[in-house]
Amino acid sequence: RIESVRLRRILDSRGNATVEADVLTESGGFGRAAAPSGASTGEYEAIELDPGEAIASAREHAVPRLEGNVYVGDQRDVDTTLRAADGTDNFSEIGANSAVAISMAAAKAAADMLGAPLYQHLGGAFRGDTFPVPLGNVIGGGEHAADATAIQEFLAAPVGAPSVQDAVFANAAVHQEAASILDERGVPSAKGDEGAWAPSIDDDEAFEVMDEAVSTVSDDFGFDIRFGLDVAGAEMYEDGEYHYRDQTRSTDEQIAYIADLVDEYDLVYVEDPLDENDYEGFAELTDRVGDQTLICGDDLFVTNVERLSDGIEQDAGNSILIKPNQIGTLSDAFDAIELAVENGYDPVISHRSGETEDTTIAHLAVATDAPFIKTGSVGGERTAKLNELIRIEQNVSRL
Ligand code: PGA
Ligand code: ZN
Repeated sequence: RIESVRLRRILDSRGNATVEADVLTESGGFGRAAAPSGASTGEYEAIELDPGEAIASAREHAVPRLEGNVYVGDQRDVDTTLRAADGTDNFSEIGANSAVAISMAAAKAAADMLGAPLYQHLGGAFRGDTFPVPLGNVIGGGEHAADATAIQEFLAAPVGAPSVQDAVFANAAVHQEAASILDERGVPSAKGDEGAWAPSIDDDEAFEVMDEAVSTVSDDFGFDIRFGLDVAGAEMYEDGEYHYRDQTRSTDEQIAYIADLVDEYDLVYVEDPLDENDYEGFAELTDRVGDQTLICGDDLFVTNVERLSDGIEQDAGNSILIKPNQIGTLSDAFDAIELAVENGYDPVISHRSGETEDTTIAHLAVATDAPFIKTGSVGGERTAKLNELIRIEQNVSRL
């Protein structure tokens, strides 16, 4: 059982405060986890409170219910207790940041107590043996960088990589290659929040750079590397139109534009191509190109089974982004993954733009046999997850 839960404010990758939780069990199991934080957050996400307030509220309402009462190996009980302590349906009382940190720390304490790696505890004995393909953010803008591309993320997708390790190195190489190409073009570039290059170029030019970088590295590495996008359409959408640098597009034009991009660049992945309320638009685009590419809902679904159910009913998208802090607990994230898989939607496990060294999502992706994980390509808070995937792969394959 849980002996103690300690909460504290720590730094995230943007220099903001976030919540870290330590869970200690009576038998000496220990788990530590920290909440990430979004910038282009979805309207329907669980509520992230100011970390100081979230900690104070969780100490008052949640910690006394957990300590001495709840068995960490029963993740459902941990998470139900968190929900009951909160008393709302969106964690607005204790904060999704406190909730997710405690939920993930409890899972790690359970794994520690059982002497199993986290992916094994979460995935169980009947976990498959697939590894996620990492989607690496190479060029980006939107809410993650000022004066850069309108599309939030251009993501390398090393779909032909023979191993996670090869895939991780391929993404880093694409990131480096993109820098050389930008340099040759005389375009200076800083990095955005997730470590992607954030040059002051329009989206057309970013497609050219990305296409070239991916094919160069694909040739070098000898396997297929393609690319995809997180459009983060909700952030672009205002007054009924999608706003790019020098132009706007209506919803119909946006759908046609994205469908053309899928054809032209053979995109493997398109996240949030449309606004977070536009199920019909997602359905239409999925109908047009859903057999060629993943149409993934992030702000559309916010890891929420109810929103995903609505999407499934309307055939909106064919993939869901999974961010545990969007919903507040690991159990809720698992439920969303299960519903997705049952209905032929591919789950993609994801980081946030504000991150810590926490590696839980790497384990979650392996535990659930997710086909993709989105966790950047470079930068310490991103490589924490990528390097953990490399370790897990070695561990599982007994290399
Ligand atoms: P966020 O961005 O973490 O700032 O929400 C990531 C995403 O949109 O996928
Ligand atoms: Zn997104």
